Amino acid sequence: MAFPPAFLDELVQRNPIEEVVGQYVSLKRSGSNLFGLCPFHGEKTASFSVAPDKGIFYCFGCHKGGNVINFQMEIEGLSYPDAVRALAKRAGLEVPEDQQYQSRYRQQERLWALHKEAARYFHAQLYAPPGANALGYALGRGMSKNTLTKFGIGYAPDSWTGLVDTLRSKGYTEEELRDSGLVTVSRKNGNLFDRFRDRLMFPIIDVRGNVIGFGGRIMTEDKSQAKYLNSPETLIFNKRKNLFALNLAKKSKLGYLILVEGYMDAIALHQYGFDCAVASLGTALTEDGAALLSRYTEQVVLIYDGDAAGQNATQRAIPILEKAGLQVKVLQMRDAKDPDEFLKKFGADRFRLLLEESSNRVEYQLRAIGRKYDLRDDDQKVRYLQECADLIGCLGSTVQREVYSTRVAETAGIGMDAMKLEVDRARKRRQAKEKKKQEKIDLSPARNLQPKSRTIRYDNLHSARAEEMLLGLCFQEPALLDRTAELTPEMFSAPILGKAYAQMLERHSQGLDVSLGGLVDFTPEEMGHLAGILQRQQGPVNEQALLDCVHTIRREYQTHKVESKDDLLALQSAMKERKGIGP
Ligand code: GTP
Ligand code: MN
Repeated sequence: MAFPPAFLDELVQRNPIEEVVGQYVSLKRSGSNLFGLCPFHGEKTASFSVAPDKGIFYCFGCHKGGNVINFQMEIEGLSYPDAVRALAKRAGLEVPEDQQYQSRYRQQERLWALHKEAARYFHAQLYAPPGANALGYALGRGMSKNTLTKFGIGYAPDSWTGLVDTLRSKGYTEEELRDSGLVTVSRKNGNLFDRFRDRLMFPIIDVRGNVIGFGGRIMTEDKSQAKYLNSPETLIFNKRKNLFALNLAKKSKLGYLILVEGYMDAIALHQYGFDCAVASLGTALTEDGAALLSRYTEQVVLIYDGDAAGQNATQRAIPILEKAGLQVKVLQMRDAKDPDEFLKKFGADRFRLLLEESSNRVEYQLRAIGRKYDLRDDDQKVRYLQECADLIGCLGSTVQREVYSTRVAETAGIGMDAMKLEVDRARKRRQAKEKKKQEKIDLSPARNLQPKSRTIRYDNLHSARAEEMLLGLCFQEPALLDRTAELTPEMFSAPILGKAYAQMLERHSQGLDVSLGGLVDFTPEEMGHLAGILQRQQGPVNEQALLDCVHTIRREYQTHKVESKDDLLALQSAMKERKGIGP
């Protein structure tokens, strides 16, 4: 990682964060901060903050945060170097291009080109003699020729080196082949082989139109093999952050997106005119996936398989989509297991009817509750009503609560007043619970401190609280770093905080600006976490507070050291290693 630090400092200075963020988010000042609606998670109340004096943004809702470069990366979906280039252009700065970055970008470009080449090869094979069976299979499953072309469907022949040979002949190196994920390496002799053999191939294309991976389906019902084999994660392929067919669906004029489980479902929908269908890439829907959807639409229709697994997946997907600010409708599959089968059996018109009667998620969930109970049994009827009241009590809008209360009361044959009472009671219970939870959080800073993410756990909360505070103070007043000579990064209990401290010391000793922007080699998630620490740091800088922090960290370190010498040794050697490959 190496744009020169001085260049990055200037870049950050010449791109005031409030101006850059202001291009995307409308901000209102409140004290020394600016607030607006978070562009990353969709919300109705402003929990997205920008602190011009600290040079950071931080969302109290979704915990994204960082400096102006991190913002540029997130909002435009750029890599670090590309974000730097974009900001440099904005400020009229010339970029001292770095070898390593250039090579990483070039590496990506090579992998995109390689994947395009592979897609061409697979597609050609589908129409060559070895592909006869696969072509028959695809047509037999109802894919039209036009669909095969539009989706670039292909065939990976039953050969060990067909793709490897083709790519080699196009000049791709062994290393590039290995990095592509499209080959496997023999453990015996290190030779390269095609990963996909005798499979129908579905290219996975990102929203910019790059082929980034493949899904490959076997063409038999052989249960001993995985039905689908997908590309592994690579420099260009992340299955949680991409969706199948979004490259096409994003151009749809239908005004909503349909989310399905299977590649075949998405393809069938497109073929039958529902050109707004996308599918997850063999995983459950993720927050990243929902955020991606929310860039292109406000409404998602969920159509998962009609079986129990599909219904469970639906229940899990609903809150993820809603959290991303999306309106959710659910189409309950019936008379067929999935959209692909339904369309083939009944055609587009009947599917359109289903789509029209697809319900919003509350109706869907009320119906799901209804299926669990037998309303002829009084005992069950009571439990049905209570569960419905719990769900309705969560709704923010009075009108919604009224409408659904009425409906449930009618279904169960009870009076409207009784139902209303039950909903009110559920609502109060919930509010009380939330209040209690909030009090607990307020009363217990240590609990509040524990990062949400499992990858950034704190082992020693007592020390970590002091570590966070110390970092906050030093960011605010870098001169304080002259007073922490007794404290070495190894004494930090939380590795991510120790790493930040080490870099701050280093920059301070070199006379460089100490800010979040100067930190390198942190993941976006870690950056968000650090920005959160900084944003929560308030009040005047106080040297005694700093010395207290130093004292606490040292004391916890001494105690802990005796407890686990082995861990410490491991930590130290890890630190050394990190230094070796560090910035
Ligand atoms: P067909 O069975 O050909 O109709 O495919 P489908 O696209 O309808 O798939 P299905 O509903 O069975 O599964 C949904 C999705 O889960 C698929 O599109 C794949 O992304 C994924 N999937 C299914 N089976 C496997 C598997 O064996 N391995 C992996 N990695 N993913 C799978
Ligand atoms: Mn299917």
